Amino acid sequence: MEVVILPGNRQIGKLAADAVEALLRRKPNAVLGLATGSSPLPVYDELAVRHERDGLDFSAAHAFALDEYVGLVPGHPESYREVIGREFTSRVNILPENVHTPDGSAADIPAECRAYEDRMRAVGGVDLQILGVGTDGHIGFNEPGSSLASRTRIKTLIEQTRRDNARFFTSLADVPHHVVTQGLGTILEARHVVLIATGAQKAPAVRDFVEGPVSAVCPASVLQFHPHASILVDEAAASSLK
Ligand code: F6R
Repeated sequence: MEVVILPGNRQIGKLAADAVEALLRRKPNAVLGLATGSSPLPVYDELAVRHERDGLDFSAAHAFALDEYVGLVPGHPESYREVIGREFTSRVNILPENVHTPDGSAADIPAECRAYEDRMRAVGGVDLQILGVGTDGHIGFNEPGSSLASRTRIKTLIEQTRRDNARFFTSLADVPHHVVTQGLGTILEARHVVLIATGAQKAPAVRDFVEGPVSAVCPASVLQFHPHASILVDEAAASSLK
């Protein structure tokens, strides 16, 4: 695990975008893993600029979202399919049919979870996974207590995460209770993981997963086992590291 401390969002966005760009230039049909939330936005902004300005080409790439709410009607503006489209994929030339999100409205969710993993495998697995981290150390929607070997599956959101995400909905009552998320075992299979954490509120989680024991209590700590994990943090998020 390499930890890179940078002055702010702009530099983090550029460094992560450099990794994506190098990958796409080497492997135009690369498979990207995408997170939603605020942490990756500077990366998506920078990639959109490079697409516009430099012609960075996503036309043969695939993208897989980490997670999706269960029970939102298809097209709901806060479904991660819509969010990832608004924030990133509609701003570059990736083909809509190459953008994959778990179907949280599927009648048979366990079958959909298996099919999602099959779709990832069919295109060769994720080359570069972008991640954020929750204040409790979650990655994807793998909350504390998630099995370190878990695969894509349905999970119940803890109240803190529902409250954290209520800002995107009209009220807390509108935040779904369930999600489909890639498992920790699934995330570990990505060939390169780039996790972004900014702001003082992330400092305890960063300390715990970088320097603490590997434990399901802090799901992101499983990245200590990953052979190529890059942790990009600003000084505030790094402030509790030894
Ligand atoms: C989003 C996701 C979550 C977020 C995490 C941090 O797809 O999987 O794990 O990355 O909750 O969210 P932000 O970046 O909004 O602080």
